[in-house]
Amino acid sequence: MKSAEASLAADDAPFIDPADLRNTLGCFATGVAIVTTLSANGRPVGMTINSFNSVSMDPPLVLWSIARKAPSYDAFHANGSFVVNILSEHQHELCLQFSRPSEDKFAGVDFEPGLNGIPQLTGAAAHLECMTHDRVEGGDHTIIIGRVMRLQASDAMPLLFHRGILRGFDGRI
Ligand SMILES: Cc1cc2nc3c(=O)[nH]c(=O)nc-3n(C[C@H](O)[C@H](O)[C@H](O)COP(=O)(O)O)c2cc1C
Repeated sequence: MKSAEASLAADDAPFIDPADLRNTLGCFATGVAIVTTLSANGRPVGMTINSFNSVSMDPPLVLWSIARKAPSYDAFHANGSFVVNILSEHQHELCLQFSRPSEDKFAGVDFEPGLNGIPQLTGAAAHLECMTHDRVEGGDHTIIIGRVMRLQASDAMPLLFHRGILRGFDGRI
């Protein structure tokens, strides 16, 4: 006999409570990054993300997703370059600073211009300088696929995100 699960079609998609979805996805531990770009008038723009992942080795592609309603959406849509700054363990305050809307997220933040002048945050565990390769609509987010143009890695321990909490590698920050 076929199980009920096996016979579910996409058209019958059941309601999934967003809180349940968030809780369940929170079981998947990730790193944390700040993606940066420049606005049309040259202002630095950045936001905290954990949707970053690898896609392809040849060509070298990575992805992340941005909420369509994010204030920084237009800047990432207009500019074809971005930097993924993978945060190190001691950068949890930076993570929080870039996870809420603000006109001045870069106040007190050390950075250097990278590819096409895009800010590279000082002290990050790694930088991936990317050109936008493709954009794919995904519900209330847009998936941005980037081609890696330059990269830089360090030995720094990463900042982690698990069940809605920022953690260091030993479970604490
Ligand atoms: C750990 C963490 C991960 C996040 N990941 C994402 C993400 O992958 N995509 C996204 O659109 N927002 C994500 N956010 C929320 C954004 O950082 C937040 O909405 C921020 O205000 C966006 O920048 P903006 O207000 O300048 O648009 C995340 C927040 C936190 C704390």
